[in-house]
Amino acid sequence: MLPGHIQPFVVAPIDSVIKIDKAIPLDKAALVGCGVPTGWGSAVYAAETQIGDTVVVFGVGGVGMNAVQGAKFAGASQIVAVDPVEFKREKALDFGATHTAANAQEALDLVESITNGRLADRSIITVGVGDGKLIQGMQAVVRKGGVIVCTSLHPHFKQRSAWICSP
Ligand SMILES: NC(=O)c1ccc[n+]([C@@H]2O[C@H](COP(=O)([O-])OP(=O)(O)OC[C@H]3O[C@@H](n4cnc5c(N)ncnc54)[C@H](O)[C@@H]3O)[C@@H](O)[C@H]2O)c1
Repeated sequence: MLPGHIQPFVVAPIDSVIKIDKAIPLDKAALVGCGVPTGWGSAVYAAETQIGDTVVVFGVGGVGMNAVQGAKFAGASQIVAVDPVEFKREKALDFGATHTAANAQEALDLVESITNGRLADRSIITVGVGDGKLIQGMQAVVRKGGVIVCTSLHPHFKQRSAWICSP
């Protein structure tokens, strides 16, 4: 419950809002208004996943799980869900992942194996908070000319600084 002097309103650009039916519960609408289209759009529109692609999704939480669904919808033939949490990896299989890995190294070994060394066509990063090392791992699984979509934001220069500072 909000204190009396706080109004439950927000100013937003008209292009960022749509009117929804009052019958739609707001907790469900919140999901469909953010994580679902962000993940789906990352795979379908930003990555432009093609039929037959191998797609790797790093982090299968609210956003990443929907990137998995988007990749499946777009016709990817192999979808690798990478997440340290076993439950998330198991759920990702229900949402369309064909393979899972617990970390970036495991994902690289797996992707090399299932693509006969060709590597993945697309990689999508949707972890909560990552770092440059994770982005390096994400790049490593993608073939030359492949597509990397970084949906989540990270202090990605951290890794670069470490290289610059190392002797
Ligand atoms: N760009 C956008 O429009 C947009 C919109 C919504 C959310 N986001 C961002 O997307 C990110 C994900 O949001 P969410 O709601 O799905 O978060 P979430 O916490 O539900 O999911 C994050 C997942 O990443 C996993 N993870 C953590 N470290 C990992 C690692 N090293 N390797 C692989 N997986 C790892 C976690 O186990 C978890 O399952 C956040 O950074 C959020 O701010 C961006």
